[in-house]
Amino acid sequence: MFFQVFLRNFVTVKCVTMNKALIIDYLNHPNPIDLFEKAKQIKSETVGNKVYLRGLIEYSNRCAKDCYYCGIRASNKKVLRYQMNDQAVLEAVEYAYHKGFGSVVLQSGERQSQEFTQNIEALLKKIMTLTNNEIGITLSLGEQSEDTYRRWHDAGAKRYLLRIETSNKALYEKLHPKNHNYGARLKSLQTLKKLNFQVGTGVMIGLPYQTLEHLAEDLHFFQDMDVDMVGMGPYIEHADTPLYETVGARHASPLQIENRFDLTLKMIALLRILMPTINIAATTALQTLDPFGREKAIEIGSNVIMPNLTPLKYRENYFLYDGKTVVRDTFDDTVTDLEARLARVGAEIGYNLQGDSLHFKMKSA
Ligand code: 5AD
Repeated sequence: MFFQVFLRNFVTVKCVTMNKALIIDYLNHPNPIDLFEKAKQIKSETVGNKVYLRGLIEYSNRCAKDCYYCGIRASNKKVLRYQMNDQAVLEAVEYAYHKGFGSVVLQSGERQSQEFTQNIEALLKKIMTLTNNEIGITLSLGEQSEDTYRRWHDAGAKRYLLRIETSNKALYEKLHPKNHNYGARLKSLQTLKKLNFQVGTGVMIGLPYQTLEHLAEDLHFFQDMDVDMVGMGPYIEHADTPLYETVGARHASPLQIENRFDLTLKMIALLRILMPTINIAATTALQTLDPFGREKAIEIGSNVIMPNLTPLKYRENYFLYDGKTVVRDTFDDTVTDLEARLARVGAEIGYNLQGDSLHFKMKSA
């Protein structure tokens, strides 16, 4: 009842705010049906029922970073390192283009070098030529210099994803080695905004030492940064990482694995209410915890899905966390299957649409 009255009152207000205590109440609630209903309603009134597809190409798992939670961290010697050649990337792009995916995401481990900058720049130009400048390109290649970001923007990439991982500096520092710098990550996000990228960020949910208060702060962080896109998903342990070795699967936090799925759905619903016009991804990690995870997220707030287009031979080496779904069907099967799954939650694929963030378009208008 309390939730209902609150929701009815604030939804007419344009600039939606919600204090930390209330967000925490929702996150604590075992099944806040009114929250989900309100998020559904807001979604249908703003971004609508179209789901945009971003073909995910995991370009390389070489990584200079050493994040304590991540399976492809530099110190994990068990990982076979790869970098796709341009031809393989272009084949994946061509597939996406012909199937009417509005855009692709090029993702890789973080590396900063002149050679890497140039490789990506050249590759972007080839992608633009191949698709008559029609496909949207999102990059997810970590922290880079302003000059590098500018060159990639000029070469055709108009969107960038860089998760802050957690907006709480102290927690960030617990999860990363000393030479990883929260301030630098934040600065990268600000640079991307300055360069007029559509900017996406995100966090992991259910990290060791993380509290519901941190998660509430993360939602406020997205609002304060005025981001255009968010991708957030559950933290899932990876056995070959220091975080798992020191903390294990059942860490002290209340955010145990069995709660993380529901918690992520609640975070997505809250975010849809707080930022009605942004793009919100239904992430792969959600699908790892529940075979219908992505569809459930679409139902209550998300409007973007990133089908994996990485060739299978590479995919097995891009394990950020344990149990990551390696789909073995053909891509055509995957898309047909996705259509049927989305129809069941009243959503449909926005074919041939780049699906720019409405939030970004409204700011730029
Ligand atoms: N569990 C869930 N997500 C993870 N990522 C990295 N490691 C894990 C993990 N163990 C996420 C990070 C990164 C994105 C590419 O993958 O948030 O930004």
